[in-house]
Amino acid sequence: MSCHRRWLLWAVCLLSALLEYGAVRVTMRETRLEVVQGDSVTLPCSFFTMSPLSRLNVIWTLAPLSDPDSPKQVIVFDHGQVIEDPSLTGRVGFTGVPWSADIILNNTRLSDAGTYRCMVSNPPENGDPGIGELTINVMAPPSLPLCLWEGVTDMGGSVALSCMVAEGVPIPEMRWDKLEPQEISLPIKMDGDFTGSVQIINISSQTSGLYRCSVSNLLGTQNCYVNLSIYSPPASSPGILQGVLLTLSMALVLLALMVLVLWLHRSGQERWSEGKEDEECYNEIRYTPSLMKRSFV
Ligand SMILES: *[C@@H]1O[C@H](CO)[C@@H](O)[C@H](O)[C@H]1NC(C)=O
Ligand SMILES: *[C@@H]1O[C@H](CO)[C@@H](O)[C@H](O)[C@H]1NC(C)=O
Ligand SMILES: *[C@@H]1O[C@H](CO)[C@@H](O)[C@H](O)[C@H]1NC(C)=O
Repeated sequence: MSCHRRWLLWAVCLLSALLEYGAVRVTMRETRLEVVQGDSVTLPCSFFTMSPLSRLNVIWTLAPLSDPDSPKQVIVFDHGQVIEDPSLTGRVGFTGVPWSADIILNNTRLSDAGTYRCMVSNPPENGDPGIGELTINVMAPPSLPLCLWEGVTDMGGSVALSCMVAEGVPIPEMRWDKLEPQEISLPIKMDGDFTGSVQIINISSQTSGLYRCSVSNLLGTQNCYVNLSIYSPPASSPGILQGVLLTLSMALVLLALMVLVLWLHRSGQERWSEGKEDEECYNEIRYTPSLMKRSFV
């Protein structure tokens, strides 16, 4: 189907070329190019004309990827003069004008990505200018991400770790790992392409440690880190509480025993003075100290 359509297009092109014998014909030797940010790229645009080149006019425009609806002029060749867009001065130039309309773009930036259009006219040759299009994709390694955390770092609280990366083409992959005590990958929730977060709920002292966010694409990897220290009351605290309670209860028991002993002693003495009629009471007194000892064990 598309093949049929292409052939039809070809035929129409050939026919119109034959009919408008005078028009400039433009050929793009590439329709899509990839370049790594900072590198140079040559944008090829060949044309064919029957007239002398004294009044050649070439206009290159760019519909930026970030804003395709507002194309801007990149560079112009008109009556032997070259006019560059001020924002590209020193970075863009023709390589073979007037014989070809090729341009070179040096020190490429992400903002250079988009669809370039090469328009060539050569008066007095009549007809519409010849037009060709070419898409440039600028790739870049991820930029340094920003790691943040927020939440309550007390026992039982919850903490959100988030990671943001400003740029990277192709879109970087993001992951969060906890590095200590052993490395584990954490489930990440992406908010758009450039922000990813991890929720840690019901935190405990084991939540403390070093966390890493990595962003990577085929051109590189960048990391940022969060070091969480979870505030936990000293681990011995429940022990201390128990100890205090134990000591307190022991003291109470002791006190009770002493009161008992004293009371028995006194009542025993009273009875003793009344006469040794009750042996069992005396026995009780004698046993009590051993009971006291046992409670200390
Ligand atoms: C682009 O870089 C090439 C190679 O470094 C250099 O020859 C050319 O003059 C530069 N063009 C522009 C417009 O800066
Ligand atoms: C929180 O963690 C503690 C100990 O790890 C556990 O006993 C408790 O059930 C957890 N609570 C919730 C709501 O998950
Ligand atoms: C993380 O923080 C803890 C306590 O503040 C510290 O002892 C440890 O060295 C830190 N780790 C790193 C890798 O910075």
